Amino acid sequence: MIDTDPRRLLIELIRDEPDAKGARVGCLTGDCGACTVLLDGEVRKACLVLAASIDGNDVRTIEGLDAIEALQQAFVSHNAFQCGFCTSGMLVVAADLLARNPLPTKDEIRHAISGNLCRCTGYEPIVDAIHSAAHAGDARSG
Ligand code: FES
Ligand code: FES
Repeated sequence: MIDTDPRRLLIELIRDEPDAKGARVGCLTGDCGACTVLLDGEVRKACLVLAASIDGNDVRTIEGLDAIEALQQAFVSHNAFQCGFCTSGMLVVAADLLARNPLPTKDEIRHAISGNLCRCTGYEPIVDAIHSAAHAGDARSG
């Protein structure tokens, strides 16, 4: 158990870490997904988790994800971000999706990112980027 103000949120705790600024503070109401992290391997919105409830759990922000270079490159080549505010949350969700389902359909990708808002891109470049990263080199894609 972390000794902290019982009202403090996990995202506030994370943002105090100098090397973990990828998770963003957006709505603080669980709606935007900017604060998305992996908590014990599950996608969670860190603004909906109390910091005091963390007790030896594995909390992983975008900085702690392995092997996401292909996803990041796909986001660049598909212009899947403009302001970038949503991007770390999108990448966390995308990495989790591809870990569970390496060859998702576009509908499965849309479903996976449905809890993450982007005010800039219209979503299709993000869907295309994730699909492209997943299906790169796969002859079954299309
Ligand atoms: S800041 Fe957590 S969902 Fe928006
Ligand atoms: S790129 Fe601006 S909110 Fe998604």
